[in-house]
Amino acid sequence: MPEKIPQKIKSLRKKTEKIEKEAWLLIEDAKTLEELDKVRVGFLGRNGTLTQLLKTIPQLALKYRPEAGRLANALKRKLEENLREKIDALHKEKEEKGLEIDITMPGCAQELGSTHPISQTMAEISRIFKNLGFKVVDGPEVETEYHNFTALNIPEGHPSRETFHTFYLDDGTLLRSQTSPVQIRVMQKEKPPLRIIAPGKVYRPDATDASHSFMFHQVEGLAVDKKINLADLKGALTVFVREMFGKKTKMRFRPHFFPFTEPSAEVDISCIICGGSGCRVCSFKGWLEILGAGIVDPNVFKAVKYDPESWSGYAFGMGVERIAMLKYGITDIRMFFENDVRFLRQF
Ligand code: PHE
Repeated sequence: MPEKIPQKIKSLRKKTEKIEKEAWLLIEDAKTLEELDKVRVGFLGRNGTLTQLLKTIPQLALKYRPEAGRLANALKRKLEENLREKIDALHKEKEEKGLEIDITMPGCAQELGSTHPISQTMAEISRIFKNLGFKVVDGPEVETEYHNFTALNIPEGHPSRETFHTFYLDDGTLLRSQTSPVQIRVMQKEKPPLRIIAPGKVYRPDATDASHSFMFHQVEGLAVDKKINLADLKGALTVFVREMFGKKTKMRFRPHFFPFTEPSAEVDISCIICGGSGCRVCSFKGWLEILGAGIVDPNVFKAVKYDPESWSGYAFGMGVERIAMLKYGITDIRMFFENDVRFLRQF
């Protein structure tokens, strides 16, 4: 025969069942989180029905207390669980109705970066020469003395090393002071004919001011083929200048000296600001210098074991910052390297 359930426990069980039913109905009925919270306080708050019931347990005879405690705590857990479920359901409902998303709030803009004006200018120069059949190649910024000087017909002790002075590293290498060593690297690897351009960084120990920087960019060009002459060079550069600065731009060759080309020239374009009549940008000369160029010196071919009797070529090198400054009317080279977005955003 099952043990007789004492009256005290019987009535407690009834009470908890009643509370559970009541609470369940009220929780089901609650339409908002505020309403639901009132239900919670009604049962579990300091004067809540269940809290009151729990308080009576210590007054029961010792033998009834464990069972009474079990019943009351089970109810408490049940209520808390029901409340939690309802809270989740109400949250979900609110979200589905879109009430939790304030559509009047300003959105979070995803700011897109853009290509740096120097990179843009290098890409534009590359595009023009690619259309003329040139291949774009890369070379190292840390170079050997041989590639930066000796192979380019600038022997040790020659005064023109001074012109291309650079930073020397401890192990005898150096930071290239021009992109011309890429000419050597390509010719050491490839057989003629070839047409390449090499964009990249170069370094010179110049004090920084509005027109000098210890690091800047150049684009080197080299064409080697049978019977290449000055007219080929002039033709290619004419196309470049017109594409880059406009159809009306004039170009002139001014005799100059470079150790790796013979004859050599500095190439000027008619001032793109005043059109040649003279202004502050061109120092009232009407012309702007944009690059150095010439016919490849036979000694350079000898250094890479090309036969100067069967092959000829032209080479040129231009400063990218200078070209970008002229094209966009920028008066201070430092602006390119300061990373001020107010400047960069304009390109
Ligand atoms: N390397 C030269 C400079 O930095 C430019 C140049 C390149 C001149 C190729 C002639 C031929 O000034």
